[in-house]
Amino acid sequence: MEGENVIRPATPADAPGVARVHVDSWRETYRGIVPEDFLNSLSYGRREQMWRGGLENPNWQGVLFVAEDLLEGVVGFVAGGPPQEPLGGFTSELWAIYLLQKHQGKGLGRGLFLKFAGEMAARGHASMFLWVLAENPATGFYERMGGVRVREREIEVGGKKLLEYAYGWRDLGMRGW
Ligand SMILES: CC(C)(COP(=O)(O)OP(=O)(O)OC[C@H]1O[C@@H](n2cnc3c(N)ncnc32)[C@H](O)[C@@H]1OP(=O)(O)O)[C@@H](O)C(=O)NCCC(=O)NCCS
Repeated sequence: MEGENVIRPATPADAPGVARVHVDSWRETYRGIVPEDFLNSLSYGRREQMWRGGLENPNWQGVLFVAEDLLEGVVGFVAGGPPQEPLGGFTSELWAIYLLQKHQGKGLGRGLFLKFAGEMAARGHASMFLWVLAENPATGFYERMGGVRVREREIEVGGKKLLEYAYGWRDLGMRGW
């Protein structure tokens, strides 16, 4: 039944699956970019606690959708909500979008992205942005989704300085996601 996927809102029971994808996809994506020690130190348990904390909190302002493979369980997710730090008047932020490598390139990223953007528009947000490492090929995906590079900054991950780009989308409500 390969290829049977659904995209749906996450529940607290998804916390372990989201945590697994989060850590595994970080390791697949950032090996060679982010220091190895930092990637090795990532923990399924800590990520699970973090996501469960949000999903179980009725006042959580975040939004989390999972991509579920009918045989494998959670294989990807998208999350976001209020900006973690303000940026240029954008009212919402996509915090994270991750798919396991073997499930990339089949349209699931677009599905997750459009679901999230549509949800932000439905909640009355006119705009959204996200941060991505400059070295991450996902910059090309965000450009394909209509994002415009609006800012850059330097961050430190595991003791290494890295360049990040912010991509922004305006007029969310006008686009008919
Ligand atoms: C980035 C990511 C979410 C994209 O999802 P995906 O399922 O691989 O992408 P899709 O198959 O939905 O592609 C949608 C479109 O974007 C294009 N695209 C996808 N990745 C691209 C890339 N790196 N560069 C340029 N275009 C890209 C596809 O060709 C497709 O184009 P089309 O409209 O002509 O068909 C996914 O590859 C991923 O999880 N990567 C690893 C984790 C990561 O880097 N996350 C972002 C952290 S900021």
